[in-house]
Amino acid sequence: MTERTLVLAKPDAVARGLTGEIIKRLEARGLRPAGLKMIWIDEELAKRHYSAHIGKPFFEGLVQYITSLPVVAMVWEGPSAVSVVRNTMGATNPAQAQPGTIRGDLGTDISNNLVHGSDSVESAEKEINLFFNEAEIFSWKRPHESFITGE
Ligand code: RTP
Ligand code: MG
Repeated sequence: MTERTLVLAKPDAVARGLTGEIIKRLEARGLRPAGLKMIWIDEELAKRHYSAHIGKPFFEGLVQYITSLPVVAMVWEGPSAVSVVRNTMGATNPAQAQPGTIRGDLGTDISNNLVHGSDSVESAEKEINLFFNEAEIFSWKRPHESFITGE
């Protein structure tokens, strides 16, 4: 089923010049970018986006990290987009992520894990609304879409 999901190229990915690598892998997977912009997350947005982690020992560091530099925020669309993005990202801790995944190929540190992807369709909807308004998201299809989706 066609889904949308929020992806962030996090500050370390932007700083290391790996935004294009992340986009390349999601495009190659067959997903479509539906929205894309650079944004410097402020403390308020960081706390809303990571509200599930308030009170955890790593929370303050997480807010500091995600607000330290601009990120590239994206909406990606396609069949099972939520799980396809999560599988393409790899495990939260890059040191344990499988080779072939973004985190498994490009990182080693859990606090600098390059990329965010919504963890469910429900979180995706909430997170997309936090980062994008309707006018910034476009639904479109490639001419050869049926080779990817089978639809
Ligand atoms: P994300 O939300 O950023 O896509 O990552 P995730 O679903 O794979 O991981 P999640 O459990 O939601 O954790 C959010 C972010 O918090 C940082 N973290 N640090 N030091 C630690 O033990 C620890 N645990 C999590 C990571 O940056 C993770 O992406
Ligand atoms: Mg998460």
